Formats: sequence, C-alpha cells, structure tokens
Amino acid sequence: MRIVSGIQPTGNLHLGNYLGAIRNWVKMQDAAAAAGDDCLFFLADLHAITVYNDPAALASNIRQMAAALIACGIDPAKSILFRQAMVPAHAELCWLLNGTARIGWLNRMTQFKEKSGKNREGASVGLFAYPVLQAADVLLYNATHVPVGDDQKQHLELARDIAIKFNADYGVELFTLPDPYIGATAARIMSLRDGTAKMSKSDPSDMSRINLTDDADTVLQKVRKAKTDPEPLPSEPAGLEGRPEAKNLVGIFAALSDGTSEQVLARFAGQGFGAFKPALAELMVETLGPIKARLDDLGRDPAALDVILANGAERAAAIAKPTLTAAYAALGLAK
Ligand code: TYM
Repeated sequence: MRIVSGIQPTGNLHLGNYLGAIRNWVKMQDAAAAAGDDCLFFLADLHAITVYNDPAALASNIRQMAAALIACGIDPAKSILFRQAMVPAHAELCWLLNGTARIGWLNRMTQFKEKSGKNREGASVGLFAYPVLQAADVLLYNATHVPVGDDQKQHLELARDIAIKFNADYGVELFTLPDPYIGATAARIMSLRDGTAKMSKSDPSDMSRINLTDDADTVLQKVRKAKTDPEPLPSEPAGLEGRPEAKNLVGIFAALSDGTSEQVLARFAGQGFGAFKPALAELMVETLGPIKARLDDLGRDPAALDVILANGAERAAAIAKPTLTAAYAALGLAK
C-alpha cells in the first residue's frame, strides 16, 4: 500500500480541505505507519502557478500550508512531507505523460471548464494540462490509495486512463493504477453562503468558508450568518433533500462528531437553526482550537519547516527515481 496526496498551497486551509481530505490523510498515515507502508503528502506548488499567483505571497503560503498540515496531524516522522517543485521528477514525468494523455480526455475535465469559465482561449496551457501533472504526481510513486475530496475523483480517473494507455502502448507494466480514497462523509463540503457551491479557497467571500486559522468569534459569526431556511430540522436525512444549506450544515456536524446525519437529526429533529447553529459552532471551535494553537507555535520557527520540507524532498526523490528511469527507458530514451 502506498498513499499519496497533495494540496495547493494557495490561501488558507479550510474546513472542506480538512474534513474532505486532510483528516483522512492523518488517519491513513497512522494506519500506514503501523503497517510499515509509505505515505507521501506534498504541497502542489507547481499546480499553483497554472494561474497567476503573486510570487512573494506564494512563497509565504507554501510555508503556512506546510505548518497547517503538521498542525492537523501530519507527522514528518511518519509521512514524507515535501514540495512538488523540489522534486523535479514530477515535472519530468508530466512531460513524458503528455505524449500519452489525449486532448479529448482533458477537454472533459469539469474543473478546467469551471476554472476557465467563458474565456477558454485565454486560459493558460498549464491550467488545461494540470491533470497530467496530477497523474504524474501519483504514478511517480506507484500510489495505490489517493485520499481526496469528491472534486478530485475525475482527475484520478484520468490518471488511471493515462497509466493504462502508457502501459499498453509501450508494452510495460510500469504504472500502478491508483484508487481514489473518498471518505463516506464530508467528501464535498459546501459554501456557507450557497449550499450548491463547493467551499473553496478561491471564493471571494471569506464568509463562505471556515478557515483553520479563524478564531472562536469569527467561527461563531460565520456560522450565525450561514445561509439556512426557515424550516425546523427533519427527523430523517430524506427530509433534507431540496434544502442544500441545511443538508450541508448537518453533514458538517456529522463529520466533526465522527457520526452520521441520522445521528445528528435524531438529536436535533424538530429544532430550528437557532438551536442547531450554536452547537455546530461550538463543535467547530473544539476541533479547530487545538489545530490553531499548534499552527501558531509552528509559525514561530520557519527554519524548522524548511528543514522538514528539504528532508521530505530528498526521500521522495529517492522513491521517484526508479519509476522515472523506467519511464524514460520504456519510451526509448534510456539515460
Ligand atoms: P485542492 O488544493 O483544491 O484541495 C485539497 C484537498 O481538499 C479537498 N477539498 C474538499 N473536500 C471536500 N469539500 C470541499 N469543499 C473541498 N475542497 C477541497 C480536495 O478534494 C483535495 O483532496 N489538484 C489538487 C491537488 C493535487 C493532488 C495531486 C491531489 C495535485 N496533485 C495528486 C491528489 C493527488 C487540488 O487542487 O486540491
């Protein structure tokens, strides 16, 4: 078993990232460490430059995101934590895979359609080719399990298609087919302002998301102002259909309390949001408080973070090397 996943180091880590992905990284890390398997987690800084990012802000976000992952429980003694740009094999394998990936496959990627919007001709080539780099990220390490939120599922299906075609075209059994690992709850946390839009770092409204750095008052205020409807909570999850905001908040409560929507509704059925929201905010603060405290500590020693990332990159590069060498050889480009 080999576990690999990444996160873009832009903006703040938010509750969607935490519940949808990072919390599962930590669970898988602890199980893998006990079984002697490798976990590789990285900051997808090469993905971050597919849209313009202020270089100074990106550099500082990279450190901040590394600190946030450690604060959430990623332990550099158990997992290999690194920056994608520090392991050139990612960019190299991406180029090798560009000969295999098909334009038609990339044209179907919903994230590209969403991010490029109406101005497709003006989108960067990197934004279009983004999923090929993501395929390289996981195929390089022969990842078997890739813990992600629901929005990354399509990218991983593409990684499998690229692996299958490369192996078949060049008559090798080089790449392992990665499986997305998507948690049963919290695979898609929605915006607090619109239950039909994903909670996202790029939403211009900070009120739409809970950041891991938000203090208790901010969390309380954001939850109080979260969009809801006037109906009381139903007794069964089926009663949440057609009520996206209510469904999202109940789902967040379930994920934070490690329970199910059924259990949450058994407790709050018949009550309005006036009762539910303060309980939800309290649960958020209970989860985020200790993470925020660790994050503040880690921020005091940026040099230590650089050492962790440099060590991680060295270990990742060593694991990547045989696969990259074999990919060159398969293509007739043995070095
Ligand atoms: P990114 O940085 O957008 O998000 C990081 C992780 O958080 C999950 N996520 C969510 N889960 C539930 N609800 C939400 N609202 C929500 N928002 C984000 C994402 O699914 C993801 O797991 N392309 C990737 C980064 C990447 C990657 C990879 C991931 C690059 N290479 C290789 C896996 C394997 C991205 O932009 O994630």
